Amino acid sequence: MSTPPGSGTRLDPWFGAYAARTHGMRVSETRALFAVANRPEVVSLAGGMPNIAGLPLELISKVTADLIALHGDVALQYGSGQGHPVLRDHIVTVMGEEGISAHPDDVVVTTGSQQALDLVTRIFIDPGDVIVAEAPSYVGALSVFRAYQGEVVHVEMDADGLVPEALREALDRCKQAGRPVKFLYTVPTFHNPAGVSLSVARRQEVLEICRSRNVLVVEDNPYGLLGFDGEVLPALRSFDAEGVVYLGTFSKTLAPGYRVGWVAAPHAVREKLVLASESAILCPSHASQMSVSAYLENWDWRGQIVDYRKMYRTRRDAMVTSLAEAMPECSWNVPGGGFYTWVKLPAGIDARTMLPRATTALVAYVSGTAFYADGQGADHMRLSFCYPTPERIREGVRRLAGVISKELELVHMFGPEGSSVDDDVEAPSPDLL
Ligand SMILES: Cc1ncc(COP(=O)(O)O)c(C=O)c1O
Repeated sequence: MSTPPGSGTRLDPWFGAYAARTHGMRVSETRALFAVANRPEVVSLAGGMPNIAGLPLELISKVTADLIALHGDVALQYGSGQGHPVLRDHIVTVMGEEGISAHPDDVVVTTGSQQALDLVTRIFIDPGDVIVAEAPSYVGALSVFRAYQGEVVHVEMDADGLVPEALREALDRCKQAGRPVKFLYTVPTFHNPAGVSLSVARRQEVLEICRSRNVLVVEDNPYGLLGFDGEVLPALRSFDAEGVVYLGTFSKTLAPGYRVGWVAAPHAVREKLVLASESAILCPSHASQMSVSAYLENWDWRGQIVDYRKMYRTRRDAMVTSLAEAMPECSWNVPGGGFYTWVKLPAGIDARTMLPRATTALVAYVSGTAFYADGQGADHMRLSFCYPTPERIREGVRRLAGVISKELELVHMFGPEGSSVDDDVEAPSPDLL
């Protein structure tokens, strides 16, 4: 867009001065609805907020107080752009749980994995560059890709995750069209929003497809340790240290409030990431990093994760049993871990246009359209089971079932409603994550 700098409007005198990419940023229509969805009488099956109620708050407050009392001069100071060395050591141990063997030098600490997504996109994507991503994909990643004017080509998934044949075809099609792919963005384990995991057999295959075509893999893995039967799938990075940039976070296994995530990347990529991060934020919060280290050193964090798995499993069970009871006309997968159920609506129902009716009925979800860069997804909704209690989940599903049956009556009477879907990418507000 080439609006002359002087051409402001009454509402925004600087309208003409924004960069072209800024004009692509839009407030999503659902954001306004979420202001309502956050009211206590609404059951929100929308957000991806972890349930941090089980955290040892007394211990955390004691180690934080000690940290400031004994090491405040360091904790409250600027730190290294790459991240605190002690925490990078711990991160190597955490990644070891997923079979990753790395060195602390490979790790760059970031302000949540959301900043890691931003940095990776910043160093690889020029306007118009192609990123291949699962269909559907994490809303916050799509929003970053859009901010850097990257173009997303979606690739089909099934119950075993990304379909290798579809990936092969997409990469070859892009190459033939003279549009080489910069990277594959994937959430291989307990996918947000689809809830599925890439099977172990396919992991090697996906890596081989990318390796043979010189395509970097960006593996985003916030939920890998949150498998409900305790099984930990090997990270893609565990098979290929040179071809995979791995993104991790403490947001879902400890607390998102610290805003501590990380990237593990091949040496040359890591150097660029550090420079990009320093230019963006100078350094990640020292106090947060040292608090996370103190937690890991003073608490049985593995045991805490086992407790989380049990708690989220109970919530997953509440979700799928109430779906089976109340919504036989829908279909969904039973996630083996993570936070989300991906529900297919009956033919003729549009998840986006139904949302205002659902919030009026005091229940909220995220429309499937948030998870595609190209306007698909109106036939799906994402229901998260991480935050509400099992009772609230059951109540939320009951309310939603009422909304869906009313929608179905309308569809039977008047036919399907015209979809309002366009290719807007939702901004990654915490309500959507
Ligand atoms: C797939 C995925 N990636 C990245 C993030 C960002 O997490 P954070 O920035 O809190 O580490 C989320 C948050 O929900 C997510 O689901």
